[in-house]
Amino acid sequence: MERSLSMELVRVTEAAALASARWMGRGCKEEADDAATSAMRDVFDTIPMKGTVVIGEGEMDEAPMLYIGEKLGTGYGPRVDVAVDPLEGTNIVASGGWNALAVLAVADHGQLLHAPDMYMDKIAVGPEAVGKIDINRSVTENLKAVARSKNKDVEDVVATVLNRKRHEHIIAELREAGARIKLIEDGDVAGAINTAFDHTGVDILFGSGGAPEGVLAAVALKCLGGEIQGRLLPQTEEERTRCGKMGVDVTKVLLMEDLVRGDDAIFAATGVTDGELLKGVQFKGTYGATHSVVMRAKSGTVRFVDGRHSLQKKPNLVMRG
Ligand code: FBP
Repeated sequence: MERSLSMELVRVTEAAALASARWMGRGCKEEADDAATSAMRDVFDTIPMKGTVVIGEGEMDEAPMLYIGEKLGTGYGPRVDVAVDPLEGTNIVASGGWNALAVLAVADHGQLLHAPDMYMDKIAVGPEAVGKIDINRSVTENLKAVARSKNKDVEDVVATVLNRKRHEHIIAELREAGARIKLIEDGDVAGAINTAFDHTGVDILFGSGGAPEGVLAAVALKCLGGEIQGRLLPQTEEERTRCGKMGVDVTKVLLMEDLVRGDDAIFAATGVTDGELLKGVQFKGTYGATHSVVMRAKSGTVRFVDGRHSLQKKPNLVMRG
């Protein structure tokens, strides 16, 4: 992949964030998602690549755009697979909460796991704890491993967990072990990525969320030198059959190399609402301000990009929905 692709791709997440941010707090998650999706789709047309969506808004018959198999880009440039989540945290935007992101990941053709849209059990950490975690071990054992690798006490470790009934046992074990807990209402991509940035104060992510989100987080953590492990959690016979058809063993622990293969991949995200890592979109009258991160696994370069987008010159980037 050409290195200039990174800087091009951040334009895509900026557009999605600007479009969906208009819907902040208005209780309209579908509208916010549609706005992000169509803005993202439009800007992809200008990106010099031969892209194919492998993780997107759904199958061709259920999503009007950014569906699995859709071709993206100008048709010139590297042949890449694309994973998108135009709006990661639809409920977050609807309620004006924390950590909604516009997200994408790109890798050489054939390198991303084609994760089915179902739950995945996850555990994620930043660089210091790489190689020390194991999704097959207990919450307490993993907490101790992270504490040791970060040279702190278990009581100092902060674990992020999606606030769901299905995670009651994880939360109970974390409390029993004495760890500090950050319960999040949505947005486990941010939850996973934050473990790799010391200033967010988060050490480890536990619990299940979307499998597509797991692959997106894996690309980000690959760029950052962190680690995520996952296991698909089919809930129905139909989901189990789908895994079978895709050749995915549901008992297998998915390691970094299973989620994103090879040594190169690009991840880009723009904040839609404020989070620990990225500020959300702000509208300043004449311009919209964005805050993004874009990173590449091969070089390990992480860039934070602040954008100012003229609302007069590009009104179509922010008025969708
Ligand atoms: P959406 O943007 O699709 O609403 O996803 C938000 C999210 O919180 C993800 O970050 C997470 O992986 C998933 O939903 C968790 O699913 P559930 O809400 O069913 O627990």
